[in-house]
Amino acid sequence: MGKVLVLYHSDSGNTANMAQFVAEGVRSVDNTELRFKTIDEADADDLRWCDGLALGSPTNPGTVSWRMKQWWDELPPDLWSTIDGKIGCAFSSSGGWGGGAELACMALMIVMMNYGFLVFGVTDYVANQFTLHYGAVMAGEPRKDEEKEACRRLGRRLAQWVAVFINGRKDMLPVHEKLPE
Ligand SMILES: Cc1cc2nc3c(=O)[nH]c(=O)nc-3n(C[C@H](O)[C@H](O)[C@H](O)COP(=O)(O)O)c2cc1C
Repeated sequence: MGKVLVLYHSDSGNTANMAQFVAEGVRSVDNTELRFKTIDEADADDLRWCDGLALGSPTNPGTVSWRMKQWWDELPPDLWSTIDGKIGCAFSSSGGWGGGAELACMALMIVMMNYGFLVFGVTDYVANQFTLHYGAVMAGEPRKDEEKEACRRLGRRLAQWVAVFINGRKDMLPVHEKLPE
Protein backbone atom coordinates (compact mmCIF):
# COMPACT_ATOMS: atom_id res chain seq x y z
CA MET A 1 0.00 0.00 0.00
CA GLY A 2 1.52 3.34 -1.08
CA LYS A 3 1.29 6.18 1.41
CA VAL A 4 0.86 9.68 0.05
CA LEU A 5 0.69 12.93 1.98
CA VAL A 6 -0.83 16.03 0.38
CA LEU A 7 0.46 18.87 2.54
CA TYR A 8 -0.29 22.51 1.86
CA HIS A 9 -0.60 26.03 3.12
CA SER A 10 -3.25 28.37 1.78
CA ASP A 11 -4.20 31.87 2.92
CA SER A 12 -7.22 32.55 0.77
CA GLY A 13 -8.21 29.07 -0.42
CA ASN A 14 -6.69 28.81 -3.90
CA THR A 15 -3.86 26.42 -3.05
CA ALA A 16 -6.34 24.51 -0.88
CA ASN A 17 -8.57 24.11 -3.92
CA MET A 18 -5.61 22.84 -5.96
CA ALA A 19 -4.82 20.39 -3.17
CA GLN A 20 -8.32 18.89 -3.46
CA PHE A 21 -7.70 18.03 -7.11
CA VAL A 22 -4.20 16.74 -6.37
CA ALA A 23 -5.80 14.44 -3.79
CA GLU A 24 -8.36 13.29 -6.37
CA GLY A 25 -5.46 12.22 -8.58
CA VAL A 26 -3.82 10.35 -5.71
CA ARG A 27 -7.08 8.52 -5.00
CA SER A 28 -7.32 7.41 -8.64
CA VAL A 29 -4.43 4.97 -8.09
CA ASP A 30 -5.49 1.78 -6.35
CA ASN A 31 -3.74 0.57 -3.22
CA THR A 32 -2.82 4.08 -2.20
CA GLU A 33 -3.51 5.53 1.23
CA LEU A 34 -3.93 9.31 1.42
CA ARG A 35 -3.35 11.80 4.19
CA PHE A 36 -4.63 15.28 3.36
CA LYS A 37 -3.40 18.00 5.70
CA THR A 38 -2.66 21.68 6.07
CA ILE A 39 0.56 22.75 7.76
CA ASP A 40 -1.54 23.55 10.85
CA GLU A 41 -2.65 19.91 11.05
CA ALA A 42 0.54 18.09 10.05
CA ASP A 43 3.69 17.35 11.99
CA ALA A 44 6.94 15.44 11.59
CA ASP A 45 5.15 12.11 12.02
CA ASP A 46 3.22 12.72 8.81
CA LEU A 47 6.51 13.15 6.97
CA ARG A 48 7.89 9.98 8.58
CA TRP A 49 4.71 8.11 7.58
CA CYS A 50 4.54 9.01 3.89
CA ASP A 51 6.28 7.46 0.90
CA GLY A 52 5.31 10.36 -1.34
CA LEU A 53 4.67 14.03 -0.67
CA ALA A 54 2.75 16.58 -2.75
CA LEU A 55 3.67 19.94 -1.24
CA GLY A 56 1.69 23.08 -2.03
CA SER A 57 2.09 26.74 -1.20
CA PRO A 58 0.80 30.05 -2.47
CA THR A 59 3.40 32.05 -4.41
CA ASN A 60 4.48 34.87 -2.14
CA PRO A 61 7.03 37.29 -3.52
CA GLY A 62 8.08 34.71 -6.10
CA THR A 63 8.72 31.91 -3.62
CA VAL A 64 7.05 29.79 -0.91
CA SER A 65 4.92 31.47 1.75
CA TRP A 66 6.75 32.31 4.97
CA ARG A 67 4.33 30.07 6.85
CA MET A 68 5.32 27.06 4.75
CA LYS A 69 9.00 27.87 5.21
CA GLN A 70 8.45 28.29 8.95
CA TRP A 71 6.77 24.87 9.12
CA TRP A 72 9.89 23.23 7.70
CA ASP A 73 12.24 25.40 9.75
CA GLU A 74 10.52 24.35 12.97
CA LEU A 75 10.59 20.60 12.42
CA PRO A 76 12.58 18.71 15.04
CA PRO A 77 16.26 19.06 14.06
CA ASP A 78 16.86 15.34 14.50
CA LEU A 79 14.34 14.57 11.74
CA TRP A 80 16.82 15.69 9.10
CA SER A 81 18.77 12.77 7.54
CA THR A 82 16.21 10.23 8.77
CA ILE A 83 13.51 10.56 6.07
CA ASP A 84 15.56 10.46 2.84
CA GLY A 85 14.30 8.71 -0.27
CA LYS A 86 10.67 9.79 -0.28
CA ILE A 87 9.20 10.97 -3.57
CA GLY A 88 8.23 14.63 -3.77
CA CYS A 89 6.42 17.04 -6.06
CA ALA A 90 5.10 20.57 -5.79
CA PHE A 91 2.16 22.80 -6.63
CA SER A 92 1.55 26.50 -6.25
CA SER A 93 -1.11 29.12 -6.83
CA SER A 94 -0.05 32.63 -7.81
CA GLY A 95 -2.01 35.80 -8.48
CA GLY A 96 -1.26 35.69 -12.21
CA TRP A 97 0.38 33.60 -14.90
CA GLY A 98 4.06 34.52 -14.89
CA GLY A 99 3.83 35.63 -11.27
CA GLY A 100 6.40 33.09 -10.09
CA ALA A 101 4.46 29.91 -9.33
CA GLU A 102 7.11 27.74 -11.00
CA LEU A 103 9.76 29.47 -8.90
CA ALA A 104 7.70 28.68 -5.82
CA CYS A 105 7.52 25.04 -6.95
CA MET A 106 11.28 25.00 -7.36
CA ALA A 107 11.69 26.48 -3.88
CA LEU A 108 9.41 23.78 -2.46
CA MET A 109 11.43 21.13 -4.26
CA ILE A 110 14.69 22.58 -2.95
CA VAL A 111 13.40 22.13 0.61
CA MET A 112 12.42 18.53 -0.20
CA MET A 113 15.81 17.89 -1.81
CA ASN A 114 17.47 19.22 1.32
CA TYR A 115 15.69 16.43 3.18
CA GLY A 116 16.93 13.86 0.67
CA PHE A 117 13.67 13.47 -1.23
CA LEU A 118 13.55 12.43 -4.89
CA VAL A 119 11.63 15.18 -6.68
CA PHE A 120 10.07 15.03 -10.12
CA GLY A 121 8.28 17.00 -12.83
CA VAL A 122 5.66 15.80 -15.30
CA THR A 123 6.15 15.76 -19.06
CA ASP A 124 2.47 15.27 -19.95
CA TYR A 125 0.39 17.90 -21.65
CA VAL A 126 -3.09 17.94 -20.14
CA ALA A 127 -4.35 20.26 -22.92
CA ASN A 128 -2.96 22.20 -25.84
CA GLN A 129 -0.09 24.35 -24.51
CA PHE A 130 -0.84 23.35 -20.93
CA THR A 131 1.58 21.28 -18.90
CA LEU A 132 3.15 20.86 -15.47
CA HIS A 133 6.84 20.30 -16.10
CA TYR A 134 7.90 21.69 -12.70
CA GLY A 135 4.74 20.91 -10.76
CA ALA A 136 1.17 22.13 -11.09
CA VAL A 137 0.89 25.91 -11.32
CA MET A 138 -2.23 28.02 -11.27
CA ALA A 139 -3.30 31.63 -11.50
CA GLY A 140 -5.82 31.81 -8.69
CA GLU A 141 -7.86 28.64 -8.25
CA PRO A 142 -8.36 25.85 -10.81
CA ARG A 143 -11.51 26.58 -12.83
CA LYS A 144 -10.95 25.26 -16.36
CA ASP A 145 -10.85 21.52 -17.05
CA GLU A 146 -7.14 21.57 -17.90
CA GLU A 147 -6.32 23.45 -14.72
CA LYS A 148 -8.11 20.86 -12.61
CA GLU A 149 -6.56 18.07 -14.66
CA ALA A 150 -3.02 19.42 -14.13
CA CYS A 151 -3.55 19.11 -10.38
CA ARG A 152 -5.11 15.66 -10.70
CA ARG A 153 -2.28 14.48 -12.96
CA LEU A 154 0.33 15.58 -10.43
CA GLY A 155 -1.33 13.58 -7.65
CA ARG A 156 -1.87 10.58 -9.88
CA ARG A 157 1.75 10.60 -11.06
CA LEU A 158 3.01 10.85 -7.50
CA ALA A 159 0.94 7.83 -6.44
CA GLN A 160 2.14 5.96 -9.54
CA TRP A 161 5.81 6.66 -8.81
CA VAL A 162 5.26 5.55 -5.23
CA ALA A 163 3.71 2.33 -6.53
CA VAL A 164 6.63 1.74 -8.92
CA PHE A 165 9.61 2.76 -6.82
CA ILE A 166 8.48 2.14 -3.26
CA ASN A 167 6.16 -0.81 -3.71
CA GLY A 168 7.92 -2.39 -6.70
CA ARG A 169 4.81 -2.37 -8.90
CA LYS A 170 6.53 -2.10 -12.30
CA ASP A 171 3.14 -2.54 -13.98
CA MET A 172 2.26 0.94 -12.72
CA LEU A 173 4.95 2.67 -14.84
CA PRO A 174 2.94 5.56 -16.23
CA VAL A 175 4.95 6.57 -19.28
CA HIS A 176 2.84 4.74 -21.82
CA GLU A 177 -0.47 5.49 -20.16
CA LYS A 178 -3.05 7.07 -22.42
CA LEU A 179 -4.92 9.78 -20.57
CA PRO A 180 -7.33 12.31 -22.07
CA GLU A 181 -5.84 15.68 -23.05
C1 LIG B 1 2.35 38.52 0.54
C2 LIG B 1 1.88 38.08 -0.79
C3 LIG B 1 2.78 37.99 -1.83
C4 LIG B 1 2.35 37.57 -3.09
N1 LIG B 1 3.27 37.47 -4.09
C5 LIG B 1 2.86 37.09 -5.33
C6 LIG B 1 3.79 36.96 -6.37
O1 LIG B 1 4.99 37.16 -6.23
N2 LIG B 1 3.33 36.61 -7.59
C7 LIG B 1 1.99 36.38 -7.82
O2 LIG B 1 1.63 36.07 -8.94
N3 LIG B 1 1.10 36.47 -6.82
C8 LIG B 1 1.49 36.80 -5.58
N4 LIG B 1 0.59 36.86 -4.57
C9 LIG B 1 -0.80 36.42 -4.81
C10 LIG B 1 -1.04 34.99 -4.34
O3 LIG B 1 -0.01 34.14 -4.78
C11 LIG B 1 -2.36 34.48 -4.89
O4 LIG B 1 -3.41 35.31 -4.45
C12 LIG B 1 -2.62 33.02 -4.55
O5 LIG B 1 -3.68 32.56 -5.35
C13 LIG B 1 -2.97 32.86 -3.07
O6 LIG B 1 -3.12 31.51 -2.79
P1 LIG B 1 -3.95 31.02 -1.52
O7 LIG B 1 -5.40 31.40 -1.79
O8 LIG B 1 -3.76 29.57 -1.45
O9 LIG B 1 -3.41 31.74 -0.33
C14 LIG B 1 0.98 37.27 -3.31
C15 LIG B 1 0.08 37.37 -2.25
C16 LIG B 1 0.52 37.75 -1.00
C17 LIG B 1 -0.46 37.85 0.13
